Amino acid sequence: MAPDTGTHSAPKVAQIDGKTTPLYTLPARWYHDAAVYEAERWAIFAGTWQFVCREADLPQPGDYSAVKIAGFDIFILRGREGQLKAFHNLCSHRAAPLFAEGTGHCDVLRCRYHGWMFDHDGKLKVAPHFGECDWFKKDENGLKSVRLDSWRGMLFVNIDGKAEPLIDFLGDVPDLVAPYPIESFTKRADEDFAIKCNWKTYTDNFVEGYHIPGIHPGLIQSIDFNGFETTYGKHVVIMKAPQKSGSIYGGLWLWIWPNMTLSVYPDGMNASRIVPHTPRSTTLHYSFYFQSLAPELAAAQQTTIDTNCQIVREDFGICEQSQANLEGGIYQRGPLSPRHEMGVKYYHDEVRAALGTQDIRE
Ligand code: FES
Ligand SMILES: [Fe+2]
Repeated sequence: MAPDTGTHSAPKVAQIDGKTTPLYTLPARWYHDAAVYEAERWAIFAGTWQFVCREADLPQPGDYSAVKIAGFDIFILRGREGQLKAFHNLCSHRAAPLFAEGTGHCDVLRCRYHGWMFDHDGKLKVAPHFGECDWFKKDENGLKSVRLDSWRGMLFVNIDGKAEPLIDFLGDVPDLVAPYPIESFTKRADEDFAIKCNWKTYTDNFVEGYHIPGIHPGLIQSIDFNGFETTYGKHVVIMKAPQKSGSIYGGLWLWIWPNMTLSVYPDGMNASRIVPHTPRSTTLHYSFYFQSLAPELAAAQQTTIDTNCQIVREDFGICEQSQANLEGGIYQRGPLSPRHEMGVKYYHDEVRAALGTQDIRE
C-alpha cells in the first residue's frame, strides 16, 4: 500500500449553512464540442508539462521519441554530445513531419519531402536545390524547439513554455514516489489502445473506483472495496484499496494532472498518457517497467502486463457508450458522489480553471 507521506488528506466536502455544496460533473457539451476541444489543446495540453518518455529510452546519440499530443507533434532527440533536446516535429519548409510517431534512431535529421537537413541542435544545414535568392536565410529556418525538463529520469515537455517549473508542477507527486527506486526500472513493453470517446470521458472513469464492482469482475475480487479511498493533492489523485493476496495494485495508484497515470509497485511500475486526437477519439499509451528483466521473471511480468491491460480494456465499452449519451442532447450533467468521486471533482475543477482563461461557457 502507499506510504502515508502526510502531504495529502481526505478531501473535505464544503459546507454552507450546515448543508454540503452540491457537486456536479462538467457540462455534457464539453465532452464533444469542437470549440471546447480547441481551447483545451492550448490551455491544457500546450500549457502543462506532458510526459513523453524516459531518458533511459534514448540511450545513444541520434535516438529519438516522437509523440502526438492533442494535435501537437513533438520529438525528443539525444544529440551528438549526449544532450537531450525537444522540437516540434515539423519541417520549417512546408510542415512535413520529420519522424513518424514512435521511437527510433537517426544519424541525419533529413526531411523526406524535399530533403532539407538539420543538425541535432535543430539548425538548418542544407536546403538542396532551393535556388538563389537574397531573402532566404538558413539561420531563420531551423526547427522550433520545445521546453524540456526531466524528473527522476522521466522527460516532460511544455509546449507553450509558460508552465511553472516541472518540479513545482508535479505538486505532491515527488513526495509520494520518493520511496520507490523508479530510475532503476527498465522498460519491458509498450501497449497502445484506441478508444472512441473524449479524453475526459476516459479520465473521469480513471479517477474513481466507484465503477469497480460493476465493470471489473476480476479486480473487485482482489481488493476490499469497502476500504477503497480516493484522495487528492496538488495535481494528483491518489487511489488506495486494502489488497487481498495476488493483487497487482499493491503500491501507488496515481493520476497526474492533466493526462498521465502512474502505478508504482515495489518491483516495477506502469505509466500511461491519455492523449486526445479529436473531441471523440483518444489513445492510451501504456509503458510497463520492472526492476529486473531477468528471463526467469518474464512469465510473471507478462501476467502482470496482461492483467493490467485486461482491466484497462474493461473500461472501454462503458466509456464509449456513455460518450454516445453525452453527445445525445438529453443528459446535461450529473451529481458526483462525495464518497467515491472526489477525484472526478478535483479533475473537473482543474479543467474549469484552465478553460476559464479561454472564456468557455459552462
Ligand atoms: S517540407 Fe521538409 S523539405 Fe519541404
Ligand atoms: Fe476502470
